[in-house]
Amino acid sequence: MQIIAMGSCLPEGILDNEQLSRMVETNDEWIVTRTGIRQRHIAHGETTLSLAAAAARQAMERAGVAPDRIGLVVVCTFTPDQATPSTACLVQQELGLGQDVLAFDLNAACSGFIYGLATAEGLLSRMEGRYGLVIGSEVISRTVDYTDRGTCILFGDGAGAAVVSAEGPAAVADFGCNGDLAVLSAGVRREDGSAAPLAMNGKEVFRFAVSTVPASIRKLLDKAGLSLDEVDHIVCHQANHRIVESIARHLQTDLGRFYENIEFYGNTSAASIPIALCEMQEKGLLHRGDTVLLAGFGSGLTWGSLLLTW
Ligand code: COA
Repeated sequence: MQIIAMGSCLPEGILDNEQLSRMVETNDEWIVTRTGIRQRHIAHGETTLSLAAAAARQAMERAGVAPDRIGLVVVCTFTPDQATPSTACLVQQELGLGQDVLAFDLNAACSGFIYGLATAEGLLSRMEGRYGLVIGSEVISRTVDYTDRGTCILFGDGAGAAVVSAEGPAAVADFGCNGDLAVLSAGVRREDGSAAPLAMNGKEVFRFAVSTVPASIRKLLDKAGLSLDEVDHIVCHQANHRIVESIARHLQTDLGRFYENIEFYGNTSAASIPIALCEMQEKGLLHRGDTVLLAGFGSGLTWGSLLLTW
């Protein structure tokens, strides 16, 4: 599988730590030292669809791929604008893609983009000559409780998109899931039919991430027959700078090898890895033939890591 080009789209509105500290009892210093986050983008009018379509349009322009060459649209999200039609079907309409397109949403929360890439690779191998759009798009602010200082400081909105093809070396993947409603959930139906906001046991999520992700990365490297030193870029889901620090420590590798941008966006769930890849592409950090390791984790609980050749 090959990623041909990336695109991204962030809502214009920015909510920084200073502004948040006027909404709940918190402060910039606490947020920065515990998470690394300074600001996040928040949608005011933008939707999961509009962000997804804009990111995908940019990726297609950069890839030089015309609408009729797209055979697959996977939108990874846990915050769709509605249950149905899927965001992916509306991306087909918005971008003027052909009707011979397989389009669906995929919910693996913050592991979504990794699940999406692996799913796309499998499906594209049956669609000769066609390209896939794998998009992570979230408007998490619509499910966040802005009176809960333990969660509202963490999350932001945004989208990132990849144009992918089945060509090139196969990706190597490691995945898992461990069904759990208590640790991290959003939109759980209450008895009166309303949907509960995002709820999280932060300490449990932290523990889960720092044990599961290094183990998954080790399994992945074993499968690929590579050492971590042979990997050119490591991009983890951007949930908390301290989680990335701990993952680096567990893997006994230099923190500087991990690309991080959480400072500017907070946790954008399925969009965090594609937004990071898009930035890396724009900065000229990614070169054809580079080995890129991606790792995600989140609600589900889900996790996944994937090794691909750029
Ligand atoms: N501002 C100021 N104080 C806060 C606060 C905030 N925003 N949120 C919590 N606190 C307080 C707590 O009330 C507690 O006070 P107390 O000691 O008087 O009871 C203290 O800070 C420590 O809280 P705690 O929850 O133990 O902090 P923590 O070090 O575990 O950090 C998280 C909290 C949420 C930052 C951390 O647990 C985390 O990042 N977990 C992972 C979350 C995540 O990544 N989720 C998404 C995964 S995809």
